[in-house]
Amino acid sequence: MRDKGFGDTFERFTKATGIKWLIITVTGWFGSNCGCKYRQDLLNKWFPYKQNNKMNDKITLNSILDPISPQIFFTEYWNKKHLIIRRNKFKDLFTWDDFNKCMNLYPDIKGLQVLDYREEGDGRWCLDKVRKGELKLPMLNKGTVYKLWKEGKSIAIPFAEYQKKDLVDICIEFEKYFHKGQVNVYASPRAGSKSFPPHADGTENFLFQQEGKQKWTIYKEFAPGKPKEILDEFVLEAGDLLYIPQYQYHKVDTISPRLMISIHFTNKPKQSIKNFKISKPEANNRDKWINWVSKPPKEKTFQPQRRMVSDTWKKKYFKDKI
Ligand SMILES: [Fe+2]
Repeated sequence: MRDKGFGDTFERFTKATGIKWLIITVTGWFGSNCGCKYRQDLLNKWFPYKQNNKMNDKITLNSILDPISPQIFFTEYWNKKHLIIRRNKFKDLFTWDDFNKCMNLYPDIKGLQVLDYREEGDGRWCLDKVRKGELKLPMLNKGTVYKLWKEGKSIAIPFAEYQKKDLVDICIEFEKYFHKGQVNVYASPRAGSKSFPPHADGTENFLFQQEGKQKWTIYKEFAPGKPKEILDEFVLEAGDLLYIPQYQYHKVDTISPRLMISIHFTNKPKQSIKNFKISKPEANNRDKWINWVSKPPKEKTFQPQRRMVSDTWKKKYFKDKI
């Protein structure tokens, strides 16, 4: 893990070298009650390092998968096994603030779902299906959806790729290697909020943990088999990225309030390592992000009049004096 500030470096250095006198000297600055952790946090606060957790200006597959190269990803993981990349990166793609703004647009949220709404079927309440009459459930007003959220129900927002520029850019980058993708947002208000039981998706899933923590269970089996044997269990934290191959069974358990985005894609037809196709970005017909901000022209500021300094002017009036 990268050092947050001088405090982390100091602790690491003294631990590695065993130079205790440095600790004793610095402890003296803070008084005898100063514990190691307190000193470490204080030094981090006083001498913070600039955190390199911002997204690169240009989002590339290299930057998305860093430190795993695309070559390693496609030869060792793609279609074979899950991959966890832990780093403090891509955690601001969709924040609680973004979720708040988006949910306040209700009911104008395409495809919104309330998970674990009922016992039957997959338990989902789907706004569009209820609206079209395909799902015989009551239409919920904004207050009722909020009440369900407060009671612990998880919410899914599909088709969220145009909520933020970075989401569009990530899709466009992935779509060089995969077929057209989609962004889903999954939000839960507390630990124990239900998500999906063990299931497999027909898409390549890239899961970006945004806020909070959630436990993942990955099964050995791929669809059309059945989930039987647990292959891996782990907790994702904000900034972590998980890749799950298509058809591999997996399950999520919420262990805190959480916000996670799933960016998923089907594979290009007949895509294989031996005949691997990478599309040019120009070939992508996805709408690019457009900056619609319209700013008034800047007001003209007062410009002092320039002094006349031409050679002729000087010569005429001052001649040899200058
Ligand atoms: Fe899934």
